[in-house]
Amino acid sequence: MKVSGRSCDALTGPVLVSLLCALLPRCVCYNTSAQIDPLVYEEQLLWVSGGQGHVSTYRIPVLTFTPKGSLLAFAEGRKSSSSDIGAKFLAMRRSTDKGNTWSPTVFIVDDVEHPDGLNLGSVVVDEEVGSVFLIYSLCFHLYRCSPSSTMMVESRDDGLSWSVPRNLSIELGVRAFAPGPGFGIQKRLSPAKGRLVVCGHGTIEGDGVFCILSDDHGKSWRNGAALKSIPYNQKKSAQDFNPDECQPVEMPDGSILINVRNQNNYHCRCRVMARSLDGGESLPIEELYFDSELVDPVVAAGALQKNGVLYFTNPSNDRNRVNLTLRWSLTDGLSWEKKAVQIWAGPSGYSCMSSLDTGSVEDQKFVFVLYEKGHKDYFETISFVKVHLYGGR
Ligand SMILES: *[C@@H]1O[C@H](CO)[C@@H](O)[C@H](O)[C@H]1NC(C)=O
Ligand SMILES: *[C@@H]1O[C@H](CO)[C@@H](O)[C@H](O)[C@H]1NC(C)=O
Ligand SMILES: *[C@@H]1O[C@H](CO)[C@@H](O)[C@H](O)[C@H]1NC(C)=O
Repeated sequence: MKVSGRSCDALTGPVLVSLLCALLPRCVCYNTSAQIDPLVYEEQLLWVSGGQGHVSTYRIPVLTFTPKGSLLAFAEGRKSSSSDIGAKFLAMRRSTDKGNTWSPTVFIVDDVEHPDGLNLGSVVVDEEVGSVFLIYSLCFHLYRCSPSSTMMVESRDDGLSWSVPRNLSIELGVRAFAPGPGFGIQKRLSPAKGRLVVCGHGTIEGDGVFCILSDDHGKSWRNGAALKSIPYNQKKSAQDFNPDECQPVEMPDGSILINVRNQNNYHCRCRVMARSLDGGESLPIEELYFDSELVDPVVAAGALQKNGVLYFTNPSNDRNRVNLTLRWSLTDGLSWEKKAVQIWAGPSGYSCMSSLDTGSVEDQKFVFVLYEKGHKDYFETISFVKVHLYGGR
């Protein structure tokens, strides 16, 4: 009998889990509270900065699964410097064996000599139709160009080929919007089952978290929730409320929890947490909180919800981008387990997580982390880590 991890996930109570395990021997029903003991199982550098192949610096790791069980890793290939501004390639590598081996790098978008080129970006997978969408911005900083545009490319063949870029600003309106960086979600639960939800942030003055939504598998997009900075559309001061780069995840109750960069250290040097109860239409202030346990140096962080456990990665330090750490919560983020796992002690920056769920036992054991890693500077390499959730058992 084939029982996927996800069907066990619906019954997370320990009694039900042990009953199920007794009845269904092939079912991987770990007692998550007792047995999660992550171990860095394998690590490989996917990109190394330093001027090879017309790229000065690789930055902004984005990782996703595909409906066919492949992994796609993306990064910005910054052509002439490490700056956020400037011309770039959108680089991709693909793995069809759960991250053991990777294709050579392909550049799926090239902005040629754009003064304020592309910025990654959110990947979002539509599991119902099998498409992978990658949404990014052009001219985000309005540096020698105008206006900012929100662009999208689509793959219908598991990441092998990509469409020409489509300009979403035509339907969304012209506004600076930097998706992610990380992944967007397709709602698996109600409300709004099947909807694509991509969240990101605005310009520095008109900053805040904004989500765009598609209810027709990426054919059309509209503006959804907004959590605006204060003061909105004004120059910020230290400690102003300025929610910025963000990573949404769908929780087991169907809400969307968004883990947000706290750009001006409002209230704490820690993460802002926003929640949508209506599938990304709104982000009510009542649902907003600050997670003082998730100390943060102001960075884009990784979040993932798998089988009822919430995972989080960031450089766990209140001043510097060092100490990339994996944490996990068995209480939907209300508390975090004491035992965190350090992935890299040295310089480390942005991170993004993913995992597979093709129904195999193996897929229940691993989460994958793609992160910026270096010895002197965090943007020296982009590294892929396979984490075994049960200590290699
Ligand atoms: C699962 O783990 C928790 C925490 O260690 C423990 O209290 C509980 O008894 C365990 N349940 C089963 C069914 O083993
Ligand atoms: C995208 O569309 C907007 C709105 O029509 C337009 O102002 C902008 O120039 C377009 N961007 C690109 C890169 O074509
Ligand atoms: C690394 O992170 C852990 C977990 O948050 C923390 O206890 C430790 O102090 C951090 N170390 C540094 C050097 O930031």
